[in-house]
Amino acid sequence: MRMYDVIVKKRDGQELSKEEIEFFVDGYTKGEIPDYQASAFTMAVYFQGMTENETAILTQAMVDSGETIDLSGIEGHIVDKHSTGGVGDKVTFIVGPLVASAGVPVAKMSGRGLGHTGGTLDKLEAIPGLQIEMSKEEFINNVNQHKLAVAGQTGNLAPADKKLYALRDVTGTVNSLPLIAGSIMSKKLASGADSIVLDVKTGSGAFMKTLKDSEALAREMVNIGNNLGRNTVAVISDMNQPLGFEVGNANEIKEAAEILQGKKVEDLRQLSLEIASHMTVLAEAFSSYEEAYQTLEENLENGKAFAAFRTFIEAQHGDTSVIDDLSKLPSAIHAIEVIAEKDGYVSAIDAESIGIAAMYLGAGRATKEDQINHGVGITLNKKIGDSVKVGEPLVILHSDNREAAESVKKVREAYTISSERVDAPTLIHKIIK
Ligand code: URA
Repeated sequence: MRMYDVIVKKRDGQELSKEEIEFFVDGYTKGEIPDYQASAFTMAVYFQGMTENETAILTQAMVDSGETIDLSGIEGHIVDKHSTGGVGDKVTFIVGPLVASAGVPVAKMSGRGLGHTGGTLDKLEAIPGLQIEMSKEEFINNVNQHKLAVAGQTGNLAPADKKLYALRDVTGTVNSLPLIAGSIMSKKLASGADSIVLDVKTGSGAFMKTLKDSEALAREMVNIGNNLGRNTVAVISDMNQPLGFEVGNANEIKEAAEILQGKKVEDLRQLSLEIASHMTVLAEAFSSYEEAYQTLEENLENGKAFAAFRTFIEAQHGDTSVIDDLSKLPSAIHAIEVIAEKDGYVSAIDAESIGIAAMYLGAGRATKEDQINHGVGITLNKKIGDSVKVGEPLVILHSDNREAAESVKKVREAYTISSERVDAPTLIHKIIK
């Protein structure tokens, strides 16, 4: 087989065979197919697309290019969740204990963040002592015993995707639905869960800005999961403003702990319950979504979900006293109010700008080498639809720097205040099964 012929076939809009797709993935991973041919191939896919069958074959080939995590030592039906990424997204810290409180195992492999705020692991490390490095045996034992463990990603998962994603990044071919969907799903599938709930964000702060694009991505990913034997559901949720009120590492742990203690932060609580309900239904812990939602809501009220959070922290050697007294979490030296300069209603909050403002404070990494400052972050005082008066704080910056001028500027750019009242955006746009 020649790569030249595979490129031409895709360029001319024909469907590739399993052998042809595997030839490309295998050859490119091994360095036998050069970057210039892989670039031509991804550009051909960009313009011609891929059928559902081709996308599934591509994804499986990328999974097979590296190691897969064997979770067969875990008892029960393992569910995982994945978010396409947003600002203030601390849903994992609520959903993990919530699903565990229903007796369903959650074995989560997570990464660190680049840009904006930290990733799941960075945020968890705001809890003093909490260990995310552990042996495979310890990981599996923790899940079996406590129904929840979160560990740093180990192993060489989907190396074909790593190489291809880097190439797409510099050849204008990131934005292809089958390539994005295959890329995300190859990493999820290699992580070994039986079922997957995807939280596909939509809006100004999301990777996909329009509902139409988000829905198309969600459908592609659900099709891949289902075609490759994993029950997959996607929740399309809003990211036209940060989720909840807290952005930053300790800030987000604090807000998640408050929800688990029964606090009613509307958007965050609702989305967490929604995702956890789909996860537990996929795991067959409940016979209906309604039953799942009701029981999980009770578990937020009766302390079961919070108890599961405590057990998880203890099992991973974290200091549980910080969730009993949240003021013991890392904090910043200064609290800087960014105040409204006119009366009106908040009509937009650019989530990405809030994320960048938090990164400037030290909550995220601009480069891989940067150290995260767990104590800094942003508390939103106003969200879309709220009325504001001149002089009222829009946000509070938790900063170790007295001025934080760059962050103040970015927050100002993020907020739009208009004279007309605007409704809060719909939180959950669609469920794709
Ligand atoms: N995230 C990924 O992991 N892959 C893509 O292609 C795009 C976003």
